Amino acid sequence: MMQLKFYIETVGCQMNVLDSELAMAELIAAGYQPVSAKRYADIVLFNTCSVRQHAEDKIYSALGRLKHWKDQKPNTIIGVMGCMAQKDKEAIFKRAPHVDIVLGPGQLRQLPNLVKAVESDKQRQIAVSLDRLCHNPAYNNTRNSAIKDSFRQFNPQRLLCTRDNPYQAMVRIMFGCDKFCSYCIVPGVRGPEQSRPPHEIEAEIRQLADQGCLEVTLIGQTINSYRYKQGEKTRRLQDLFTMIENINGIRRVRFVTSYPRGMTNDLLQAIRDLPKVMPFVHVPAQSGSNAVLKRMKRHYSVEEYRDLLDRIYATIPGAAVTSDFIVGFCGETDDEYQQTVDLVRYGRFKNSFIFKYSKRPGTKAAELFVDDVPEAVKKRRNNELLAVQNTISLELNMAMIGQTVEILVEGTSKIATKRQTSEQNASDLVQLTGHTPCDRIVVFDGSPSLVGQILPVKVLQVAPFTLFGERM
Ligand code: 5AD
Ligand code: SF4
Repeated sequence: MMQLKFYIETVGCQMNVLDSELAMAELIAAGYQPVSAKRYADIVLFNTCSVRQHAEDKIYSALGRLKHWKDQKPNTIIGVMGCMAQKDKEAIFKRAPHVDIVLGPGQLRQLPNLVKAVESDKQRQIAVSLDRLCHNPAYNNTRNSAIKDSFRQFNPQRLLCTRDNPYQAMVRIMFGCDKFCSYCIVPGVRGPEQSRPPHEIEAEIRQLADQGCLEVTLIGQTINSYRYKQGEKTRRLQDLFTMIENINGIRRVRFVTSYPRGMTNDLLQAIRDLPKVMPFVHVPAQSGSNAVLKRMKRHYSVEEYRDLLDRIYATIPGAAVTSDFIVGFCGETDDEYQQTVDLVRYGRFKNSFIFKYSKRPGTKAAELFVDDVPEAVKKRRNNELLAVQNTISLELNMAMIGQTVEILVEGTSKIATKRQTSEQNASDLVQLTGHTPCDRIVVFDGSPSLVGQILPVKVLQVAPFTLFGERM
């Protein structure tokens, strides 16, 4: 039988990138062949995001564009996976009747079976978990344990390497989120918080190390809430760090995303003391106003967040901190927004991800508050805050000029590769890229054979998001 070809288009966070990678490995194992572009594919899958309306709109337009294609090639299989699949469920078939598969993030392991079922029966397939969105009466009547069971953990063995580069890998240590920040759809679509057993995480990382992986990034929605009970003992994130410290081959460990509460001093000390754990913390503040944080149901004050920043910088030498902010949240006044500007100035963040508030049906904020900050105001605050942050990013980078930093060489710079092919440059030096321990991107010239090594580079010039250096 002819091998069907598939393509997965991924949007959204690192969870989605990892899910796509795992889905790809599953499909390959089931006999399907990956291709590099949609146009070559018999099976087109979208791994979707629901965190903001804009991300959903883009997927629905992309689906719309495939309608004509499906009319011409009716055997094409179109699937929607990820958070939007869990949120919209059957409604996706109504809006885009040419879709064949709807698959929630808690059902990933079913993907090959659903594809096979569509192939043989030509019937639509849907696999989603129980509803956890607060507007849905089904949610209030369903037991939490039943919801939890319906978000099945998916921990395949990574026999195939479907990553961009073999030296780095993401490893999920937690599923879901229980924080229920009022603006956020994630607890609704990714399900209850569940920590993976340490022995499974260890086995996965050992396997990655055997495959030549040097750097692992542990991922979880609130990663510092990791807790796994083993008899009398409760394993925490710092215990995982210690476990990885003893895995030969792994040289670097990163972890995202941290929740401000629960960033205890012993965790910060572990980051400082364990050589493989990189001095980098992504810990979203979301707002600099106590009133807004309260409406967001973040359960900490600005004072506590500032204290956390002080503790990070005092404990971990050379630490870099990054944050997320939402501007234009329901009822945000100019004064409240200014307090966010003040926090960005205080925070000295390496960089911040800044988002305009987007109302998400099914969240508490959508139920309780009016989305009353005009779009133009959201946009202005977004641009202004970004400008404040960019100035700080550049200042921090400038302070690195003259320093020598350790780089994991990840690959060649895309810009350089393009330039080389167009100019037919005969030189065997290319532009290489990699990251510093504090997660700054560095570009420098070198031989392609250096890819996959960790080596010192001296910083010569900087831009807000990039360092330029030379090999020592
Ligand atoms: N609107 C805008 N930004 C949001 N985020 C989460 N939910 C929303 C929303 N409804 C942002 C938060 C979070 C990041 C991943 O996305 O800042 O940390
Ligand atoms: Fe969303 Fe808050 Fe959970 Fe982060 S901690 S995923 S913002 S609910």
